[in-house]
Parts: sequence; C-alpha cells; structure tokens
Amino acid sequence: MNSDLKQIGIEKDIQYECITTTINENGEKNAAAFAFKYLGEDKVFCRNFEGSKTLENIINTNEYVVNITQDPLVFTYATLNCLSDEYFSDDNTIAIIKNTPAYIIVDVENVEKKTPEDFPIKGNNNIYFITGKIRKIHINDKNAKAYNRGLNSLIDSLVSYSRYKIVDETKRKEYMERLTENQRIIHKTSDKKTQKAIDKLKKEYEKA
Ligand SMILES: Cc1cc2nc3c(=O)[nH]c(=O)nc-3n(C[C@H](O)[C@H](O)[C@H](O)COP(=O)(O)O)c2cc1C
Repeated sequence: MNSDLKQIGIEKDIQYECITTTINENGEKNAAAFAFKYLGEDKVFCRNFEGSKTLENIINTNEYVVNITQDPLVFTYATLNCLSDEYFSDDNTIAIIKNTPAYIIVDVENVEKKTPEDFPIKGNNNIYFITGKIRKIHINDKNAKAYNRGLNSLIDSLVSYSRYKIVDETKRKEYMERLTENQRIIHKTSDKKTQKAIDKLKKEYEKA
C-alpha cells in the first residue's frame, strides 16, 4: 500500500488537492475538489463542509473515489460544477474520472460531525471529518503525482522576495501579507523541507 502511494507522490500526513468523485442513489455522478490526507497503513482522511453533494453522497453510499490529477480544466470544471458526463468512465456503479492518472477507491469507516466552535474556520457551517480505508489503488500513468500546494506557495513567495527590495511601501506590504498567507498554507499542507524553506525566507523578508 505505502509503496503504491509513494509511486503517485503521496506521503503520510501531507495534504493533497484531488478530485473527489461520488455517485448518488439515482446513479448521478458528481466531482468536486477536496483535500486528501493519507494517515498510514490503509487509512485516509478528508473533511467536508456541510451542504456539499459530495458529503451527501458519501454519507449515503459510504464510498468515494480520490482522483489524482493535475489537469487544470478538470479542477476548474469540477469546482464550477460543469464537468460533463464524458469526463467520467463508463462504469455505472462508481464515479471515476476517465483516464485520470491514478485513482483511489475509499470505503468510509467513520463520519464525525464537528460544529464551528470545534473548528477554527470562520462560518456557520458544520464540518464533517471523514476517515476511511483504501479499497483499491489504480495507476493509469506511471508519472501520476498528487498535487500539493506547498511548492507553489513557496515559489510565489520567492518571486515576490526577488522583487521586494525594488518596489514601493504599498507593494512591500502586499508581498508581506502574501508571504504570511503562504507560510500558513505551507505549515498546514506541506512537508518539513518546504516549511523550513518558507520560515527561512520569512526571516530574510523581515531583515530586508
Ligand atoms: C482545490 C480545492 C480544495 C478544496 N478542498 C475542500 C475540502 O477539503 N473540504 C471542503 O469542504 N471543501 C473543499 N473545497 C470546496 C469544495 O470543492 C466546494 O465546496 C464544492 O462546491 C463542493 O461541491 P459539491 O457540492 O459538488 O460536492 C475545495 C475547493 C478547491 C478548489
């Protein structure tokens, strides 16, 4: 299990952005972007805000599929709720994105409701913590790699840093705010090396 996940770029306790596909009782398929974490052994985790179709389908069917992709249009269409039927495989019993570089089928084991007070994201919606067990990992493309936001956030901060000394005060303030947000993202989603890099950069920013 571990080596299959490593092959598709997934490490334990790191957050990846993926496309979660589900099906409802009428056989209607749905796709949406969700963060996904591997907890070790065969356990996985995601959390879904109340009100999504994905959450409803997961609760009703006790399964979901994590599609590993870095296709910008798949992410965008799924988020804008316009991923057409042609994007899905022909299997009528499960929703999987056709030719996705890799996918993981998950059996849901536990769904725990958290109220906004338990959870530091502002808003009124409850959030559900969903733990599950990997049923199957399928790799279509040996170059499949789950997407982690950390490196993008770091590169964004490095680009800003390279311009930091030559811009005016207003722009510097903007860059600093962006860096602080990127540092937050990296500490939430990424590995120790990326965290070390952004922390070092933040110190340099503060000196500049
Ligand atoms: C990259 C990305 C990651 C996301 N991760 C999550 C997440 O982990 N949990 C969540 O509740 N919503 C997340 N969202 C928001 C859901 O995708 C969004 O609420 C979506 O409308 C749910 O669609 P659905 O109703 O078809 O399930 C994410 C959105 C994007 C673009």
